[in-house]
Amino acid sequence: MIDLLTTEKELISPHIKAGGTAIDFTMGNGHDTLWLSRAVGDNGHVFAFDIQEAALENTKELLSQNGRENCTLILDSHSNVKEYVKEPICVGLFNLGYLPGGDRTITTKRESTIAAIRAAIDLLLPGGGLLIAVYPGHAEGSAEGKLIEEELSKLDKKYISCSKLAIINSPTSPFFFLVEKRD
Ligand SMILES: C[S@@+](CC[C@H](N)C(=O)[O-])C[C@H]1O[C@@H](n2cnc3c(N)ncnc32)[C@H](O)[C@@H]1O
Repeated sequence: MIDLLTTEKELISPHIKAGGTAIDFTMGNGHDTLWLSRAVGDNGHVFAFDIQEAALENTKELLSQNGRENCTLILDSHSNVKEYVKEPICVGLFNLGYLPGGDRTITTKRESTIAAIRAAIDLLLPGGGLLIAVYPGHAEGSAEGKLIEEELSKLDKKYISCSKLAIINSPTSPFFFLVEKRD
């Protein structure tokens, strides 16, 4: 049976460039930041965003335990990404929703998520990719997923490809979008 977590990594991996720049748009406890840090390698760099101090602390600790030094952790909304990242990126990850084990009221919100996705698409190198995981099991997550789909559906297929992978007989399960900029 399909394992979404494994599948999403398999789909985004071909877009990762060793020595390139990647962004974790929702740092959380740092698992995706760590994965990206290893994937781009010591000559690459990862920028990671979160609005919660606890996320930065947990991620800093995880990176330090694993001896990773190629990450910049930013305490700000991902919608402000262009104030911090001035170089093109090969990959961006969005793992939307709330911090596992944390305050469920602090969740990603559709307006800032859409602003961040637009900025991410601008920053994306030709051949680069974005992976956006949506959690529709709560009200904001469901509305967020619908708005993202509406927005991505409008993009010109000549320069970008936008796909969706969802378990259709389990509508509250997480699903994801893959956004790929053509070479
Ligand atoms: C599902 S968690 C991310 C999990 C994380 N990728 C990991 O590996 O542990 C979503 C995170 O998005 C953060 N978040 C919410 N709104 C945000 C925003 N506007 N900008 C950046 N992060 C935000 C939350 O604080 C939460 O930590």
